[in-house]
Amino acid sequence: MPIIQAEGLNKKFKVYKKGEGITGYLKSFIHRDYEEIHAVADLDLEIEKGEIVGYIGANGAGKSTTVKMLTGILEPTSGKVTVNGRDPHKNRIKNAMNIGVVFGQKTQLWWDLPVKESFKLLKEIYEVPDEKYEDRIQRFTEVLDLEEFMEKPVRKLSLGQKMRCELAAAFLHMPPVVYLDEPTIGLDVSVKEKIREFIKEINQEKDIAVMVTSHDLGDIEDLCERIIVLDEGKKIFDGSIEELMSRFSERRIVLDVKGTQEVIQLNNPGIIDIELQDGQVEVVFDKERTNAAELISEILGKYDVADFQIKEPDIKEVVKRIYKEGIEG
Ligand SMILES: Nc1ncnc2c1ncn2[C@@H]1O[C@H](COP(=O)(O)OP(=O)(O)OP(=O)(O)O)[C@@H](O)[C@H]1O
Ligand SMILES: [Mg+2]
Repeated sequence: MPIIQAEGLNKKFKVYKKGEGITGYLKSFIHRDYEEIHAVADLDLEIEKGEIVGYIGANGAGKSTTVKMLTGILEPTSGKVTVNGRDPHKNRIKNAMNIGVVFGQKTQLWWDLPVKESFKLLKEIYEVPDEKYEDRIQRFTEVLDLEEFMEKPVRKLSLGQKMRCELAAAFLHMPPVVYLDEPTIGLDVSVKEKIREFIKEINQEKDIAVMVTSHDLGDIEDLCERIIVLDEGKKIFDGSIEELMSRFSERRIVLDVKGTQEVIQLNNPGIIDIELQDGQVEVVFDKERTNAAELISEILGKYDVADFQIKEPDIKEVVKRIYKEGIEG
């Protein structure tokens, strides 16, 4: 049985509209107009033990709302959800013992307490045995480089230092499920790398299911074998990064054409567009309808080409397109 399972999960929010000015404000006491936001719509999810799944979507797509339902913070409007066999909202306390969470925008540590004391409190809350606690703290301190600020109160930490502590806190009781909502937001490259290494290492060792939400597709590419794309609350893709990329059949050939600063003329029905970019000619084509070899041979027959390059789309481009235009098929 999947460790996270949701079926027809929905979350709707009622947002009351305030009228304009004082009369609108007063009227809103008598007659309240509201708007309904369908933040998560008929979502089916199945995540297996030990999987790292990237959960992506544009701002407002419903990612955090999903995570909040899975942690039990929010009650679904309708639908079924179980985490480790339990309804997370109805069994909030028990569910909490089985999960770790990082909300990149919030802290779960005690603001005024030194990091070390925060960890000790978590140890008590999650009933981590002494020996395991010592081992893990030692290891997390090493891998995440926590030593120099263990004695500092959380409020005095930099963002990157705090995030490293949050991550250690989420994994301290080695729960079977960890949710990471924007775990690398605002972090420098080296801290990001440290965090990713840490997640991968622990996941491999302990078979922890990790759900990662991030706008940094580097996180997703580096960590996840599977990604789920959400669009206006609906799941529009669920599969591997390779599958996602292969849905996009647009490719480019970038050419240095000697002696021309103009768009070249070609006869091939697979061509989508020919553009000039920084003095180079870019031929955009549909790989389902033609191929690079065919195009290159036509181009070489007609023009004097100094250099060319075939460009595969990268995940950033593909995801940008999906957020803008949706996904076909
Ligand atoms: N407590 C709430 N009350 C009313 N509307 C809400 C509430 N929480 C979220 N929403 C709305 O639900 C939608 C989904 O929000 P959510 O925070 O889940 O998006 P997200 O995918 O996490 O976006 P982001 O990438 O910006 O973090 C948005 O339209 C948001 O305004
Ligand atoms: Mg969010």
